[in-house]
Amino acid sequence: MFFRLRLGTRPSPPVGRRRFRPTGGYCLLFPGPGMAKRLVEKGAFMLPCFDLTGRTAVVTGAGKGLGRAFSKAIAASGASVLGLSRTREDLQILKEEIAAAGGKFDLFVADILDELAIQAAVAFCLDRFGPPDVLVNNAGLGRVNKPFEEITTAEWRRTVDNNITGTFICSKYFGLEMVRRKRGKIVNLASMSGLIANKGVHCGPYEASKLGIVALTRSLASEWCAHGVTVNALAPGYIATRRNGEFFASHPEFTRKAIEMIPVGRIPTPDEIAGVMVFLCSDASNYMNGAVLVLDGGYTIW
Ligand SMILES: NC(=O)c1ccc[n+]([C@@H]2O[C@H](COP(=O)([O-])OP(=O)(O)OC[C@H]3O[C@@H](n4cnc5c(N)ncnc54)[C@H](OP(=O)(O)O)[C@@H]3O)[C@@H](O)[C@H]2O)c1
Repeated sequence: MFFRLRLGTRPSPPVGRRRFRPTGGYCLLFPGPGMAKRLVEKGAFMLPCFDLTGRTAVVTGAGKGLGRAFSKAIAASGASVLGLSRTREDLQILKEEIAAAGGKFDLFVADILDELAIQAAVAFCLDRFGPPDVLVNNAGLGRVNKPFEEITTAEWRRTVDNNITGTFICSKYFGLEMVRRKRGKIVNLASMSGLIANKGVHCGPYEASKLGIVALTRSLASEWCAHGVTVNALAPGYIATRRNGEFFASHPEFTRKAIEMIPVGRIPTPDEIAGVMVFLCSDASNYMNGAVLVLDGGYTIW
C-alpha cells in the first residue's frame, strides 16, 4: 500500500531509460508519523518492527542529498530526528518541511570534524529528544575527480579525514550514549566505490575513504555488539542527488555508460532508497551487525 504525498520541493527524477515508477510519475514518499501510527495500529501498513515511534535518530549531513531523504523517511516512520550539517539554511528548510508533514525534527549546526561541536550536539540531543537510539553517519565529501598524479596531499587528506575521521568522531560521542544504555544502532554511509574502482571517473581518495568506512563498520561492530550496539553500512551506487544530477547533465557520455553497467537500467532518486535506511534503523534489522548492504541496482555484480 503506497501513498503519494508531496513533501516540499519536487525531487529530481531518476536518471536512465527504464523509468519504472510504481506511483505513476510521483516520487514514492512516506505517510506522516500520525498516519503511519494509525495504520500500524490497524495492522494495515507495515510490520511493527519497522515502526520508529519513540526513537531518537541523529542524521549527519541532513541538509542535502541523501541525508535529507533519510531524515524525512526516518521522521515519517515516527522517530524524532536531529539533523546536523554546517549549513543552517538547508537544515531550517528541512525542519519546516518535516514539521509540515507532522514529523519531529530539530537541527544542530556542526562540523563533524569538530569534536567539541559534536559533544555539544550530543548534549543538545539529550536535552531536546533524549538519548540517541540511532546514528546515521551520512555526512561525507564526494570525489575529487582528478587523476591520481594530480591529487594534492591536502585534497587527499580533506576527503579521507572528512569521511573516515568524521564518522569516527560522531560514532564515538553519540555511540558512548548508546553504550551507556546498552542499546543503539549506527548506520554508516559507505558506497559501492568502497568495493570497486569506479569506471570512467577519478575517485582515488573517495574510494579509499569508503573502503575505510567498511573497515570501521566491521571493527566497531565487533567491539560494540557486546554493549548492545549494532553497526552496519549502506553502500549505494550512483544516486540522482542534486549534486550528482549536475554532474550527470554535464557528462552525458559517462552517464550513458554508467547506466549501461546497471542491470536495473536507471539511477534512482534519494527518496526511492530511503526506505532501506528506515529498515537499517529499525528493529527489522536487529540481527544485522557488521554488514555492508549494497544498494546499486546490480552495478557491482558483473
Ligand atoms: N549520492 C550518491 O550517489 C552516493 C552514492 C554512494 C554513497 N554516497 C554517500 O552518501 C553520503 C551523502 O552523499 P550525498 O550525495 O547526499 O552528499 P551531498 O549532497 O554532498 O550532501 C552531503 C551532506 O553532508 C554535509 N557535510 C559534508 N561534510 C560535512 C562536515 N564536515 N560536517 C558536517 N556536515 C558535512 C553537507 O552539508 P554542509 O556542506 O552544509 O555541511 C551535506 O548536507 C556521503 O557519505 C556519500 O559518500 C552517496
